[in-house]
Amino acid sequence: MASLFKWSRAADRPALPFTAEQQRRLATWNRERLAPQFPPADPDAALVRESEMRAVEIAFLEALRAEISAEAAAAPTDVEGFIAWFEGLIETGPGQGDPLFPWIAAEASLDQMHWFLEQEAAGEAGFDDLVAYTQVKMPQQAKLELARNYWDEMGRGNPKGMHGPMLGHLIEALDLAPTIEDTVAESLALANAMTAMATNRAYAWHSVGALGAIELTAPGRSAATAMGLRRLGQPPEVRRYFDLHATLDVKHSEAWNREALRPLVAEDPARATAMAEGALIRLKAGARCFARYRSELWSVRESRPTEAMVHA
Ligand SMILES: [Fe+2]
Ligand SMILES: [Fe+2]
Repeated sequence: MASLFKWSRAADRPALPFTAEQQRRLATWNRERLAPQFPPADPDAALVRESEMRAVEIAFLEALRAEISAEAAAAPTDVEGFIAWFEGLIETGPGQGDPLFPWIAAEASLDQMHWFLEQEAAGEAGFDDLVAYTQVKMPQQAKLELARNYWDEMGRGNPKGMHGPMLGHLIEALDLAPTIEDTVAESLALANAMTAMATNRAYAWHSVGALGAIELTAPGRSAATAMGLRRLGQPPEVRRYFDLHATLDVKHSEAWNREALRPLVAEDPARATAMAEGALIRLKAGARCFARYRSELWSVRESRPTEAMVHA
């Protein structure tokens, strides 16, 4: 275990902490362990595997923390200062204003859109479950806000309004097949980091910050994706997941910051730093995805000049 921590903090580590293979192992483990199941046939072997994978998970998370801890330490810890800093991430946060999204809205072909959505879908950790894990033993006001947010994720009790199945409908309608094997490591890393923060209580405040960062920044990306889908002739029921998040998450973000972040920081300013770390970990993981997507999608575009010529 000690060697993992040492390796993850090495000055010459790769741009993505840990290898693609490790991200696949973590993603596979998360899929297995979070599924409802029966007691294992061999409890000792299950505990050994659990302990091995948790060591990898925590080492990965600590490597991500090490990258942003200095920046997070500079965030204010008083309520007003922190909220202003946090809301400012919509402009200044890692990955904000990435050129990928104007391109998705205005230029991506249907094939390119499919590839992008497949990566995004495979890297989706399930916002509803992340909220559910995070809210355990939270102080009352924050807990209530996470409950309201969760209820919205559940379509307020209407199966047709549930966000998870809404994304599932889009995957089905576009005939996408998101798999761990075909997903880039950056996208798996994003989901692995979110799951790690939500399921480890030592990172509960990080998770509150990371989930708040998603609510803050999702509307812009969702609007661009919905616009691209509309341009490519996709009907409203297919675009619904992105159309919805383009507007609903603006309200979710305001409520999260007011009802969860504010009272939690007022009660203990040390949480501000943990939330700042969580938010920066999430945004940096997103920025890595966008850069990788561009390198994949735009190299394809450049290597196929005939496509543009055919359409011209
Ligand atoms: Fe949602
Ligand atoms: Fe939301």
